[in-house]
Amino acid sequence: MAADNSFDVLIIGSGAAGLSLALRLPGHVQIAVLAKSSLDEGSTLYAQGGISAVTQAPDTFESHIADTLDAGASLNNPETVRFTIERGPEAIRWLVGLGVPFTRDNDTSSNNDDFHLTREGGHSTRRVLHAADATGRAMETTLLGEARKRNNITLLEHYIAIDLITGSKLGQADNRCLGAYVLNRRQQSVVGLSARNVVLATGGASKVYLYTSNPDTSSGDGIAMAWRAGCRVANMEFNQFHPTCLYHPKAKSFLVTEAVRGEGGRLLLPDGTPFMERFDTRGNLAPRDIVARAIDHEMKRLGEEYVLLDISHKPAPFIREHFPNVYARCRELGYDMTLEPIPVVPAAHYTCGGVMTDLDGQTDIAGLYAIGEVACTGMHGANRMASNSLLECLVFARAASEHITATLADTPAPPPLPPWDESRVRDSDEEVVVSHNWDELRRCMWNYVGIVRTDKRLQRAWRRVDLLQQEIQEYYSHFTVSNDLLELRNLAQVAALIIHSAQQRKESRGLHFTLDYPEPDNSKPPTDTILTPEHPLNIDYAR
Ligand code: FAD
Ligand code: SIN
Repeated sequence: MAADNSFDVLIIGSGAAGLSLALRLPGHVQIAVLAKSSLDEGSTLYAQGGISAVTQAPDTFESHIADTLDAGASLNNPETVRFTIERGPEAIRWLVGLGVPFTRDNDTSSNNDDFHLTREGGHSTRRVLHAADATGRAMETTLLGEARKRNNITLLEHYIAIDLITGSKLGQADNRCLGAYVLNRRQQSVVGLSARNVVLATGGASKVYLYTSNPDTSSGDGIAMAWRAGCRVANMEFNQFHPTCLYHPKAKSFLVTEAVRGEGGRLLLPDGTPFMERFDTRGNLAPRDIVARAIDHEMKRLGEEYVLLDISHKPAPFIREHFPNVYARCRELGYDMTLEPIPVVPAAHYTCGGVMTDLDGQTDIAGLYAIGEVACTGMHGANRMASNSLLECLVFARAASEHITATLADTPAPPPLPPWDESRVRDSDEEVVVSHNWDELRRCMWNYVGIVRTDKRLQRAWRRVDLLQQEIQEYYSHFTVSNDLLELRNLAQVAALIIHSAQQRKESRGLHFTLDYPEPDNSKPPTDTILTPEHPLNIDYAR
């Protein structure tokens, strides 16, 4: 670490977004990359299906754009969608140049060396590049391996950012972002890291729900930190539930990639009856919001705990070759997907909303950027299309790197930061409060703010989350910080943002479905749900 804890760029997060940005910045820029657990841990590592991009004829940008807008229920920002999709091919070339081992097409009739393209829900054609069914692992290990070689990149693992430091927090007129307070989890000490530019690349917030495909890192820290610092957040009501996570007590919502359906897999009721065609003409490959809602509907209608996903009609070698990891995990848990259907359920998967940014990844606060799942760029609208997330991470990492590079020389060096004040807190004697609140919060969000909502359920959720927030605030102001407490504080804040956003949307659109307003409101153009810092939700937890 730099002797004065000062960097040109502080990147909070070491997933696809954070590492790509670090690698895109020029070698003379001094960079710190933080990860709150091990460096490779994060949603990126678990990404399965792949990354979408227009790489082979007859696919076109216009087709990818049309599919993305359709999946997003027309809430997407068309300019952002075009910007992202047109930069897709360059992102793929960059990854290939770094050595990401995308699966090649072994179909000899195609007579070329092209990459194999798979298909997922919402895509009207095959356009998803992948590394078998472990695309994220291939990307994360390649990016991390490359970052470890760079002398200008300091990688700090087990460091959790607590809060951003801005000019206004230090009593300055200019509210520029100056750095962050960070808990070194191994030493249990808090340091201030200062930087000319700070980048949030902290991933999503799906851990706010009891059942999620996401790893523990997805606790919405970046969204909560940006909100507390004074950024606008948008579209937090659009929480994506992945339709097919393995139903098994030991599987912890293990994802079964949508590419299984892309390669011919079918959803069936427990008695073997297909049902998706009753909900959408695209059947098993309808966009995710439609499929998850259909499964939820059928499970509730029949009182079933799961539905089935069946690809056993395909040749066993094909299944093992395309889905080696899913196949192996299912075998460990007692299912052979080459011989039988497997039980699946929806689980929280992706946060479409987040910190509002422009096309350079800039937030409302000078010197603060947000890229990847933490951001709301306008790309996904009311529902993200499969495999568009990794694409967005890559494209916005590059855009932010270009903006930071162009402006760095004119960016002031931050002043020395005041030390973290622990004079009024003591060690907790009741850690159990934190774990109980964790459980209550996530259960409440699952029960009342899930796939199907109502005004009454949202109101019920709000009363509980409001109470929890008060308890957490009280706890936070009296006890020394721990990883669990910081994550709980952030999850509660994000839960409040989700509920308030959901309460504001008086229609059903994309991932937000409410029985009280079951149709989209087509009487006016669709609008984003934007929460501004003046909102009464912005309780100041700062010490
Ligand atoms: P992440 O990869 O989640 O990384 C977040 C980073 O931030 C981590 O390093 C974490 O430690 C760090 N962090 C968080 N908070 C703090 C803090 N307070 N202090 C310090 N560090 C912090 N998308 C696709 O496009 N295609 C797919 O095939 C696909 N499959 C998926 C499968 C699964 C099981 C999951 C969970 C997601 C999948 N997604 C897929 C979504 C996609 O993987 C994610 O949206 C994307 O990887 C997010 O990348 P990111 O860099 O924004 O964040
Ligand atoms: C999957 O492989 O089904 C996940 C793809 C995604 O989330 O984009």
